[in-house]
Amino acid sequence: MLEGADVKGVITRTDLLEAMHDDLGRTKSFEGVVKGEDTPQGKVRNISELMKEILDARTRRVLATAGQVAEESGYRAYLVGGLVRDLVLRRRNLDVDLVVEGDAIEFSRTLSRRLKARVRPHRKFKTAVVILKDGFKLDVASARTEYYEAPGAHPMIERGSIKLDLYRRDFSINALAIRLNPDSFGQVVDYFGGLRDLKDHTVRVLHNLSFVDDPTRIVRAVRFEQKFQFRIGKHTEYLLKGAVKRGYLKRAQGPRLLNEILVILRSEKPIRGFDRLHELGILASLHPGMAFDSRTRKVFEQVERIHSWFQLLFLDEEPDVGEIFFNAIMLLRSAEVRNEILGLFHLSEPRQRSITARWDTISATMKELAYADEQPLSRIARLLDEVQTEDLLLIMSLTKRESTVKAVSLYLSRLRFIRRELDGKGLRQMGYPPGPIFRKVLQATQDARVDGVVNSLAEEKRWVRENFPLEKGQGKGKKGGGK
Ligand code: CTP
Repeated sequence: MLEGADVKGVITRTDLLEAMHDDLGRTKSFEGVVKGEDTPQGKVRNISELMKEILDARTRRVLATAGQVAEESGYRAYLVGGLVRDLVLRRRNLDVDLVVEGDAIEFSRTLSRRLKARVRPHRKFKTAVVILKDGFKLDVASARTEYYEAPGAHPMIERGSIKLDLYRRDFSINALAIRLNPDSFGQVVDYFGGLRDLKDHTVRVLHNLSFVDDPTRIVRAVRFEQKFQFRIGKHTEYLLKGAVKRGYLKRAQGPRLLNEILVILRSEKPIRGFDRLHELGILASLHPGMAFDSRTRKVFEQVERIHSWFQLLFLDEEPDVGEIFFNAIMLLRSAEVRNEILGLFHLSEPRQRSITARWDTISATMKELAYADEQPLSRIARLLDEVQTEDLLLIMSLTKRESTVKAVSLYLSRLRFIRRELDGKGLRQMGYPPGPIFRKVLQATQDARVDGVVNSLAEEKRWVRENFPLEKGQGKGKKGGGK
C-alpha cells in the first residue's frame, strides 16, 4: 500500500519510471484520486432492492441502524469489501465490513448501545468489532486519514475519505462501497470502475504499483479470477508478470501469503487455480520446488478422488482439504526443499514445529502401514488413532500400496467408531481391584473388540475373565459383575 517509509523504500527506480510512462489504461494516478477528479460513477446506482433480496432481515436492520447512527453523529457510513462485490454478483457473503468517515470507535460504541451489542475496540488500528448477542459480528474501520508524501514527512491529507480508503484496496471489484446514511441508503460508490469490471468479469488493479505495494495481491488476483471465473485484465496481467519476474513475491508477508495460497487450495477448483499460478510463473518464483509438475498434479487429482470418497461416507466431519493439498506438495519434495519452502512463510516457531511434526508423523505412519496386511486390525487402529483425518486422507492419496489404502479406508469408515462397552466401573463390579492394571485390561478389551474377537458386553466380560483371571480371594462379595 502507498504508505509509510518502508514501502517507499522498496519501490525501485524502474518501477517508478514504468509507472509514469506506462499507458495507464483505466488506472488512475494517486493525485487524481485525492483531488476528487475522475469519478466514473455516471448515473448513481441504488441497489437497496438487491440488498432486500440477498441480505437477511437482521443484516439489513443492522445496516440501516448503522446509517442512522452515522447521520446523528455527522458521519458518513459505508458498507465495503467482499460483501458489496458479492451482492452485485448475487452471492451470499456473511462478512459485514463498514467504513465510517469519522471516528470508528466512537461510532461503534454508539451503534452497539443502539443494537444492545458488545464492542471490542482496537485503538492501534482505529477499528472496532461490534458483536451482537447472537454472535453476529460487524467490523468497523475509520476511513484512512493519512498519506505520507515522503518518509517522515507530515501527512498530506488529514481528511478521512471513503475515496482514499477504497483507493488503497487491491482490485476494482473489491473497491466498491454502499452508502448507508438514510438520505442515500443503498447507493453504490464506484470510483474505479468496479461495477463495469464485475460486468466484464475482469480482475483489475487500481494503479500500476499495486503489486509492488503488496505482493500478496499477485496470488489474490488468481484467487478472485478463479473463484468467479473472471479473467485478469491485460494491463494487470502485464504488471503482475513484471512483479513476478522481479521476485517481489519473496518480499510478501509470509503468513499472509501462505493464507492466500491455502484459500486457493480450499476453493472449488484448486487444480485449476494451481494451473494458473503455475502458468503465470508465480509458484516457481516463490521457490523452484513449488512448481506444479505433473507428478504433483496427479497427486492433487488423487486427493480430489479420495476427498469425494470420504464425503460419500456422510460423516459429520469436514476435513480442511487445503491442508491436504499443501502437505501433498511438501511431502513430494525432499526434506531439504520442503524446509526451505516453509521458511518462505515466516511462520511462528510453534506453528513451524507443528507442521514439520505432522510431516514426520505422516511419513512414519506410511512406513508402518507397509506391513498392514500382516497386522491385526487393532494395531492399525491404534496407529491411526494418532493421526488426524486430513493426514489419513493424504496418506491414501500418496501411497502406491493397495493394502495401505484398504487399511486406512477401513479405519476411517469403521474401525475408529468401534468402542468397547466395558468400563472401569464394570471391571470393579466384576471384582477387579482398581489399579494400573485397569488401563491395560480396558485397552486389551478395546483391541479384542476391534479385532472382532468379542462383539458384546457379555462377550467382553467373559473374555476379560479368561485372559485376566482374578487371583484367589479377589472378587469375593462383588455382585452384578458377570452375566
Ligand atoms: N484487501 C486488499 N489487499 C490485500 C488484502 C485485502 O486491498 N492484500 C482488501 C480488499 O478490498 C478486500 C478486503 O481487504 O475486499 C477484505 O479482504 P479479504 O477478506 O481477504 O477478501 P474478501 O474480498 O472479503 O474476499 P472473500 O469474500 O473471498 O473472503
